[in-house]
Amino acid sequence: MKKHIVLLPGDGIGKEVISSAKDVLQAIAEEYNHSFNFETHEIGGAAIDQYGTPLPDSTVDACKQADAVLLGAVGGPKWDQNPSHLRPERGLLGIRKALDLYANLRPIKGFKNLLHASPLKEEVVAGSDLLIVRELTGGLYFGTPSERRDNGNSVVDTLTYTRKEIERIVDKGFQAAQQRSGRLTSVDKANVLESSKMWREVVEEKKAQYPDVVVDHVLVDAAAMKLITNPTQFDVIVTENLFGDILSDEASVLTGSIGMLPSASLREDGVGLYEPVHGSAPDIAGKGIANPCAMILSAAMMLRYSFDFNTEAKVIEDAVQSVLDAGYHTGDLQIEEGRQVGTAEMTKLIVDYIKSQH
Ligand code: NAI
Ligand code: MG
Repeated sequence: MKKHIVLLPGDGIGKEVISSAKDVLQAIAEEYNHSFNFETHEIGGAAIDQYGTPLPDSTVDACKQADAVLLGAVGGPKWDQNPSHLRPERGLLGIRKALDLYANLRPIKGFKNLLHASPLKEEVVAGSDLLIVRELTGGLYFGTPSERRDNGNSVVDTLTYTRKEIERIVDKGFQAAQQRSGRLTSVDKANVLESSKMWREVVEEKKAQYPDVVVDHVLVDAAAMKLITNPTQFDVIVTENLFGDILSDEASVLTGSIGMLPSASLREDGVGLYEPVHGSAPDIAGKGIANPCAMILSAAMMLRYSFDFNTEAKVIEDAVQSVLDAGYHTGDLQIEEGRQVGTAEMTKLIVDYIKSQH
């Protein structure tokens, strides 16, 4: 099948890992008879340097025409002193908003031989494999009023959701559970918050539409505890913006390195933006040592969630696990045995596995 993919390398290691993802996708295209058309645009610091803005209209327009978008990372010391409208991060928030990407999916998996790299006990982390579905464009981060009052002596933030906003993210949670083990945990604070009471109502109403999914409700404080004491009890977690922000960072300690964590941000029609969780890593940029796995696994998510290429997504995920199993790893992974390799070699090993499987 023919797909049009926009690449936004951004800054620092973003440029390096995007090129790895492109190599992997080209291998998938060859092996599985797809045709991927890539178009590269600027975002972040690179766009500031070239166009004087972190998010040029040409980039937004290109993303709107695309079947999916892959983003590397933005930011770096070069732009740290810029006024806020000229910060690279503005480009990131701007593109999520411009594309109405309301569903943020973060899979967190304890890769077999990386377990000891987590600060948690190996026996706790072993077998953990979960997906957090976080609402991304509503709730406390976007509610108004949000302001200081009473001469700075009081303050207000507002948590608003419409029923529609809750329904669409809850649907995404159920659908993700259907594609995985069929277990969905809805996280809220329904013992206190009115917004959470509506959230829970919607989840209960939706249950009938997804009879193959088993649902439970967990309060967010309990969920925070269970995530690091018994992570294997979770498969798909669906939750609102603030809770999802906190829980997904907490859950990321289940894996050994930030260099392994992919993410997807989706909207209704399946168009999505896929990016690693890590930033532009200026400390290692240009050295050829960045771990490309988070970006490559983000490309796998693109195949699964935007294109429904499930076999192809799985082969990429298997490739990453297989290369790690063989002992190859980049320097960010604290593995004593095996062989440390750079970005290019890691990418080639993954590409070779894909070619050997088909
Ligand atoms: P960071 O994620 O870029 O780096 C944190 C640490 O992890 C560094 O030591 C880095 O070398 C290492 N690291 C990250 N990804 C790696 C990879 N793939 N392979 C090997 N090592 C890796 O976060 P930091 O240092 O807080 O931010 C650096 C810049 O990135 C800042 O300008 C920040 O604003 C930006 N940033 C951008 C994000 C994005 O584009 N989504 C997200 C987070 C930060
Ligand atoms: Mg966060």
